[in-house]
Amino acid sequence: MRIAVLSDLHSNVHALRAVLGALEHQQIDRVFVLGDVFGYYPWAMKVYELLMAIPQPTTIIKGNHDEMILQRHRDDSWPVNAAYEGAIMQNLAEIASTPALAWLSALSFTHTCTLDGHEFTLVHGTPDDAENGRFYPDNTDASPWFPKAGQYLLMGHTHYPLIRPFPSGGIMLNPGSVGQPRDGNPAASYAVIDTALQSQEIVRVAYDHARAMQELRAWHWPEKSVLALDKRRSGMEAAPSLTS
Ligand SMILES: [Fe+2]
Repeated sequence: MRIAVLSDLHSNVHALRAVLGALEHQQIDRVFVLGDVFGYYPWAMKVYELLMAIPQPTTIIKGNHDEMILQRHRDDSWPVNAAYEGAIMQNLAEIASTPALAWLSALSFTHTCTLDGHEFTLVHGTPDDAENGRFYPDNTDASPWFPKAGQYLLMGHTHYPLIRPFPSGGIMLNPGSVGQPRDGNPAASYAVIDTALQSQEIVRVAYDHARAMQELRAWHWPEKSVLALDKRRSGMEAAPSLTS
């Protein structure tokens, strides 16, 4: 079985379209999406529609930005970080009167299933903080929730791709971010797991992020979010801290 793992789409339809186009040529049997479908960018409904049209069985969990949208919908005075608020409100306005809102409300932060004899644990953050936990590639801390034999622990949220095999035989994997990579490569990032070959691969797909940036600027979108689509030029975010 070949499984595509996507995360942190962040309403970036241009990046998602490129990734889904690439998947058409990769004999994918199943798709996992590790949350943060929404937030940061303004194409929420288009992203939702693309996700609903994925032909393979697809499991989607929610992330912290998705949760912010739900909280704001329930309570319009719910505090949201000013850096995220504009996109959260714009995305909420887009989906509020559509089936996307009920769909989002039904998602959870974690999911566990068994495929081809492997246990797959999907979590947006980390197992001990599914909403906001971060495990970066330079993190070497020991943790009680490291994967056990035969387990794939799939985590998103950091926007940094990671594949780490453990002595137990378990695999920790973060596919990086489709919609806003932060590792210095603006190409959309995702992962493909092949359970028969026992292989895991991070795949990068270039898309016209410069055009997306142009489009955002034409809408006077916050410049920090615009620049975040091309870290090579922005230099706005240093490498993650060792302690995450
Ligand atoms: Fe997140």
